[in-house]
Amino acid sequence: MPKIVNKIVNIVGARPQFIKASLICKGLRESNIEDVLVHTGQHYDFNMSDIFFQELSLAQPDYHLGIGSGTHGEQTGKMLMEIERVLFREKPDYVLVYGDTNTTLAGALASSKLHIPVAHIESGLRSYNKMMPEEINRIVADHTSSILFCPSETAVRNLQKEGFSSNIVNHGSLIDNAYRLLSTIYWPLVVNVGDVMFDLAIEVKNRVAEKEVLERYGLEPKNFILVTIHRADNTENKDNLRNIWDALIEIVKKGITVFFPVHPRTKKVLNELNMLNKSIPEGLHINEPVSYKEMIILESNARIVITDSGGVQKESYFFKTPCIVPRKETEWVELLENDWAILAGADKDRIIDAALNSYYNNKIRDWKTFYGDGKAAERITNTLISSLKR
Ligand code: UD1
Ligand code: UDP
Repeated sequence: MPKIVNKIVNIVGARPQFIKASLICKGLRESNIEDVLVHTGQHYDFNMSDIFFQELSLAQPDYHLGIGSGTHGEQTGKMLMEIERVLFREKPDYVLVYGDTNTTLAGALASSKLHIPVAHIESGLRSYNKMMPEEINRIVADHTSSILFCPSETAVRNLQKEGFSSNIVNHGSLIDNAYRLLSTIYWPLVVNVGDVMFDLAIEVKNRVAEKEVLERYGLEPKNFILVTIHRADNTENKDNLRNIWDALIEIVKKGITVFFPVHPRTKKVLNELNMLNKSIPEGLHINEPVSYKEMIILESNARIVITDSGGVQKESYFFKTPCIVPRKETEWVELLENDWAILAGADKDRIIDAALNSYYNNKIRDWKTFYGDGKAAERITNTLISSLKR
């Protein structure tokens, strides 16, 4: 008798995961698959968590583990124990993990140790910098997964380099191949489905009132720079954060408006450095983190973006907004083509030069569809359904 899918556990905990899961959970529900949502509690402030559940109509979590912040070992260890308890109870057919956070790592480890197949969304990305906590999380999640949902061709190639060679399917032949190939959890399936963030960003952009959002924050279309910073390397290393901050001050002094919704981790360090108490130039708008819909409008209306976020780099590209990345490398390497993204490191002068250059030179750039056709979520659901009909 073929096995029929009946239950999938989704494990989320951080801002970008609520955003990605909103689309996937909707697809699962529409396909009559029972989806159980587990929130580890890695992010917990209202505007880092609840706001996304409200705005993106994500159902309240079935389990809220309330883990909160901590060192890597402490946070991941607590998650591992609590997720295991949930999995013993729920006995799902699949566990879905997203991206590259400690929540992803704990979800993938807990499930694979119980021999519950893991499907990893946003698989195959590599920065090739193991000093990044995310790089460790990605590698472990990929190598413990049964289905590796890649957002791009680059991601598939990265996995091929690591020995995932025999079970790579492209979207066209997806269903047939999935039946045939997905036989055991030791024989993982690699699928380029496209990027769920692309699906969602395009859909949301078409239904949010732009004018209202820009007016709320006193911004004019294509007349400001949007900034987000939160990477460990740019916050734990205070010199890096000071360099980035000094670059922003210099840019504002040139008469350019900068809008900076500050991640709580970054806010903590800026406070420790006494930056937010000093008089901030008028053109530098410091804000709490904004909602997803607001962010989409800000990204698409900014003249350029400065960010070390993976998601924000990509979304800027979706909306054809050039982006300066204060990092030494990016896992979204396609964006470096045609200078859609420019790596500037946490180097004050390089950030200023790259930002002013991109802001004033309206360079015409070729734009390619690196991240699929807006149907990634649909493909993910279909693959899961077909894989469980075996
Ligand atoms: C985490 C992920 C990172 C992802 C990011 C998305 C890891 C190792 N890092 O980084 O890959 O890009 O989420 O935003 O999993 N804090 C609050 N309130 C919150 C959440 C965090 O004040 O709601 C503060 C705490 O001081 C905490 C710090 O931010 O210690 C860092 O939070 P954490 O979740 O560990 O890492 P992020 O930098 O958010
Ligand atoms: N985002 C948001 N509000 C903000 C900053 C970011 O809604 O104030 C969204 C952004 O549009 C993207 C996601 O959060 O969809 C990216 O998350 P983040 O930068 O925290 O993490 P990363 O993508 O680097 O893992």
